[in-house]
Amino acid sequence: MGNITPCITAVAGYTPDYILTNEELEKMVDTNDEWITTRTGIKERRILKGEQQGSSVMAIEVLKQLLEKTNTDPKDLDGVIIATVTPDFFFPSTANLVAAGVGATNAFSFDSIAACTGFIYALETGANYIRSGRYKKIAVIGADKMSSITDYTDRNTCILFGDASAGVMLEPNEEGLGIIDAIIRSDATIGKDMIYIKGGGSVNPPTHETVDAGLHYFYQDGRNVFKYAVKYMADVAAEIMERNNLTGDDVAFLVPHQANKRIIDATANRMGVGPEKVMLNIEKYGNTTAATIPLCLRDYEDQLNEGDNLILAAFGGGFTWGSMYLKWAY
Ligand code: UT7
Repeated sequence: MGNITPCITAVAGYTPDYILTNEELEKMVDTNDEWITTRTGIKERRILKGEQQGSSVMAIEVLKQLLEKTNTDPKDLDGVIIATVTPDFFFPSTANLVAAGVGATNAFSFDSIAACTGFIYALETGANYIRSGRYKKIAVIGADKMSSITDYTDRNTCILFGDASAGVMLEPNEEGLGIIDAIIRSDATIGKDMIYIKGGGSVNPPTHETVDAGLHYFYQDGRNVFKYAVKYMADVAAEIMERNNLTGDDVAFLVPHQANKRIIDATANRMGVGPEKVMLNIEKYGNTTAATIPLCLRDYEDQLNEGDNLILAAFGGGFTWGSMYLKWAY
């Protein structure tokens, strides 16, 4: 038996039907399509409508597709890891609900919180379960209903986000394909005051006052976060390439977190990869937090070939940031 590498054997995604366009946002806040497009690259985003619909509703659809694509009986699934900052509830975890939603009654399941870097964190966590040799099938899914924490009277943030879920199945590979390397980092000393939700946790439990003060909404100091995002995402992508002796020519695709097209362009420049090698769907979905990277993989799946070198990179709340180097397995 050769060395085990954890590899992605299927990708799947779910985006809600409702499309919130820049034109519709123009009627809600003082903004315009030209500003949003040039500053962010976003044209539209999807919104999950309906009563009692949380992130798990989208993630269950993703997990159903992953089980079907890999011909997996839900009872044979070993684990479900959900990256999210918009869990259905504090507990049970969204992953508990998603596993139950497909009948995966033999699987462990838990949520992982690392905001926009959440998927890379969760994927590295899932990869380590596979590397241990004890687990054979782990579903790693990003799911965020960002509309549930967005203030639609704040033009600084409401134009940025959308709702979606997407994910992958991880299984062992003995041919050297799959996840080769990862770098995951965090630093709250600077990050904690720049992107946050202050209300609802154990410091500021929900009260009428926290609601009135808007503490349950997402806040970010966009201009400053932008500066850190450009630097840290590009640095960490360059670092993982360097330590794996990769040049831009070796990379088939950069799979970047979709927060802002300008951040993505800066990362690609630093890596020495042209725009034809950058997965991009921000114009259709906006920033879906933990779902952006797997949603890109879903959208570009038919352009990928076995052995392709992919670099994943993300930066987000915390701060958290990270990158991953993998060889596509199919
Ligand atoms: O996802 C994980 C982490 N998050 C990120 O990576 C996001 C990082 N930040 C960004 O992507 C950008 O900072 C934003 C897209 C959020 C904002 O773009 P910006 O170029 O940094 O704009 P800004 O915040 O510096 O604002 C420039 C101007 C301001 O007006 P003044 O003060 O120059 O008169 C804003 O009030 O644009 C104004 N503005 C808007 N105008 C029209 C802010 N939001 C809007 C809007 N429509 N929606």
